[in-house]
Amino acid sequence: FIPTSASGSGGGTTAKDELGNNVSVAKFLESHNVGDRTLVQGLKGDPTYIVVESKEAIADYGINAICTHLGCVVPWNVAENKFKCPCHGSQYDPTGKVVRGPAPKSLPLAHTKVDDDKIVLTPWTETDFRTGEEAWWA
Ligand code: FES
Repeated sequence: FIPTSASGSGGGTTAKDELGNNVSVAKFLESHNVGDRTLVQGLKGDPTYIVVESKEAIADYGINAICTHLGCVVPWNVAENKFKCPCHGSQYDPTGKVVRGPAPKSLPLAHTKVDDDKIVLTPWTETDFRTGEEAWWA
């Protein structure tokens, strides 16, 4: 059995914008600043942050934006350099590692890679590089 992939690019999910169109990496890098964290539709349609690492590259991980407390979408706060949940005040560092509760866990990660100007996301099942622990979401 070979699972069919919506992206048709041999596995993984292609990141989509709010209109459901594939995100163009070239345009994405053009229109965002280094350090930006920008929402796309990622794995299972989950809101996922793509990190602009440099003028030429996105980070090789995406950050699931769903708060591990009760599921609000957590906005990125540029001024404070952290994710701050509007619902009950949880905070996450720029990599999505929880730094203040009530959220019990860090935001899940996904692998990202660029394929033909598209962003392809795949599940992150390895060690969580932020904590050195197993990926709790895998
Ligand atoms: Fe985010 Fe409660 S849902 S702090």
